Amino acid sequence: MKLTKYYYLVIAGLLIISCKNNNENDLAINDGETSSIEDKVSVLLSKMTLEEKIGQMNQYNGFWDVTGPVPENGDQAKKYDHLRKGYVGSMLNVRGVKEVMAVQKIAVEETRLGIPLIIGFDVIHGYETLSPIPIAESASWDLEAIKKSAQIAAKEAAAAGINWTFAPMVDISRDARWGRVMEGAGEDTYLGSKIGVARIKGFQGDDLTTPFSIAACAKHFAAYGFAEAGRDYNTADIGTSTLNNVIFPPFKAAKEAGVRTFMNSFNELNGIPATGDKYLQRDILKEKWKFDGFVVSDWGSISEMIAHGYAKDGKHAAELAANAGSDMDMESYLYVEELAGLVNEGKVDIKYIDDAVSRILRVKFELGLFDDAYRYLDEAREKEVIGSQEIHDAALDMAKKSIVLLKNENNILPLKKDGQKIALIGALASDKTSPLGSWRIAAKDSTAVSVLEGLKQYSGNTITYAKGADVSIGKTEFAFEVKINTTDKSEFNQAIKVAKQADVVVMVLGEHGFQSGEGRSRTELGLPGVQQELLEAIYKVNKNIVLVLNNGRPLTINWADDNIPAIVEAWQLGTQTGNAVAQVLYGDYNPSGKLPMTFPRHVGQVPIYYNYKSTGRPTLPGEDVVFWSHYQDEENTPLYTFGHGLSYTTFKYSNLKIENTFSENKTVKISVDLTNTGKRQGKEVVQLYIRDVFASVTRPVKELKGFELVALNPNETKTIELILSEDELGFYDNQGTFVVEDGDFEVFVGGSSQTELADKFKL
Ligand code: NOJ
Repeated sequence: MKLTKYYYLVIAGLLIISCKNNNENDLAINDGETSSIEDKVSVLLSKMTLEEKIGQMNQYNGFWDVTGPVPENGDQAKKYDHLRKGYVGSMLNVRGVKEVMAVQKIAVEETRLGIPLIIGFDVIHGYETLSPIPIAESASWDLEAIKKSAQIAAKEAAAAGINWTFAPMVDISRDARWGRVMEGAGEDTYLGSKIGVARIKGFQGDDLTTPFSIAACAKHFAAYGFAEAGRDYNTADIGTSTLNNVIFPPFKAAKEAGVRTFMNSFNELNGIPATGDKYLQRDILKEKWKFDGFVVSDWGSISEMIAHGYAKDGKHAAELAANAGSDMDMESYLYVEELAGLVNEGKVDIKYIDDAVSRILRVKFELGLFDDAYRYLDEAREKEVIGSQEIHDAALDMAKKSIVLLKNENNILPLKKDGQKIALIGALASDKTSPLGSWRIAAKDSTAVSVLEGLKQYSGNTITYAKGADVSIGKTEFAFEVKINTTDKSEFNQAIKVAKQADVVVMVLGEHGFQSGEGRSRTELGLPGVQQELLEAIYKVNKNIVLVLNNGRPLTINWADDNIPAIVEAWQLGTQTGNAVAQVLYGDYNPSGKLPMTFPRHVGQVPIYYNYKSTGRPTLPGEDVVFWSHYQDEENTPLYTFGHGLSYTTFKYSNLKIENTFSENKTVKISVDLTNTGKRQGKEVVQLYIRDVFASVTRPVKELKGFELVALNPNETKTIELILSEDELGFYDNQGTFVVEDGDFEVFVGGSSQTELADKFKL
């Protein structure tokens, strides 16, 4: 029976039995077609017991996939019992129509009010068919493609019964040691905000009630990406200016784009764990920004406030979190155990419970779950959609667009299709699991197209493969450390032999897919294990090397940059990895990706980012004088700057013009001519940066404030216009007020953050 009928029958029955004095409200909830969601929410709320309300605020993990440490008090029988009593509002990590149906049926058919569950899952870069990891997708700077990728991920996940993703992660990250840089859009607030919005629009679509769209979640609020020393879950201590100008804007943009949920973060921020932070969740998010969806805690982050040294015990943690505005408890089990007592003792005001529950019910109504709780649960659709050609085509398209050509000397790339003899070396080249990346709980092992398989389509029997050395040892799993091969070089000789006989050597080196992601911080950013030695050993016998990097974060590859003629950043590109890499290496696809995060020369430079502050001593005061902001043993500059990326064609920027009409219409128009000066069609990301030369709060030396992805035929020129409005010209002062200040501005335009053209204007 469809829920629509069932639900209204149940409600009608209940209304007759228990709500005789509430006829107007009774009518409102029965009048599913015409009354507003707000009316329905308040009518339903008025029917709920305190325990049922708290149940809505309780989220349990499912029964087999685990994406966090399992709490001691988490037995399965209890979960089922709570489901039946209506003490569970949501589950995560339950997937597949059959499994979701099993729990949804309990919620709908066995509980007193039949309130459907909202089913969450980490659909981060795809569900079963994987797109590139988010930092890779961000390298496309292609907002339409990113939106489409999220849309496709939503479609596949929704077909498996999921209606809520814990994505996008919109944490700005400047520290490559932090493993979760793979999950974000990189270091820049402007780009990160646009990409976050594109992802939200892709996941949620225009209509949340279609069975192809799912609710999105902006996470982790806030400052999770600023974990000290890049160590995951670590403390963040952030000044007002960085908080307002760097960390908050992508979250605010997410709210404005209509994201339906937020997730708070594991870290403490300036002494208060985010989960218990009233300033973040109530004052900023709900009051200042007027967010009307709900906030879910991160996995166990309510109980972790005890370890933080902020809560005395579980009961105190529940009190702090509920009062601070954490609406739903993910896997701490504390709301369900403690909140009723806390309300009865007057420690948590019922108005906070009602507010949290209203928010959760609102999103469930918006998803159409009250009209049909089984709308996502169609086995025929599940079979048809998951792994379909449409999904694979979109994943391939995104994968090609995510590749960044870092270096290409002597036209070694594209590879020739004329029987050129290729040696393919590296364990990652034949790996069909690692390219799936880190967030791939629903994907089966060995389902990616490997680079070896991809290249074979072009090179057939002119390709010879040798592993050279393993990257990892033993089984690799989501929840466990990857063990790296640091000693076994026994297969070097075979690889050297193969390399000697080749015209070109393609080496696929880098990180295993499970070396980045949650809980995967590193102190070294070089090629893991014996891979650097392997690279140098091969270089001794054949210098024609194309290095294809697999990684979830910027790496330090100075030696490679000094010696290897071509370097291709291929991240972890998902299911279609091999096809995408082959199309780029053989020139069927002209790469246009640009780095969304700076590549350091040395880990000691981290955090390194293009939009740094000048300091009072930015330049060398005289030969060898030490009194300026620098290192004795390394340059200040990065190896590859933010926004860097080459193409098989070349572009020329000219004719930068500024039309300053700010006094009339509050805008400044920047235009520039872009010419394709090479011999191939290609795409370029035109990047506009500004510098507010002096201000009441110091501004970065450069800030991205506009970009456009432009396709050009050889010899073609296009004039690109980018508009600076108050949004781009202003900033938040230390009182949190957005201001646009008069004064001098510099403008820079080019194909990376080390831009080619510059000019000035005044406001
Ligand atoms: C912990 C992660 O921090 C969060 O991003 C994720 O969504 C949850 N676990 C659920 O898996």
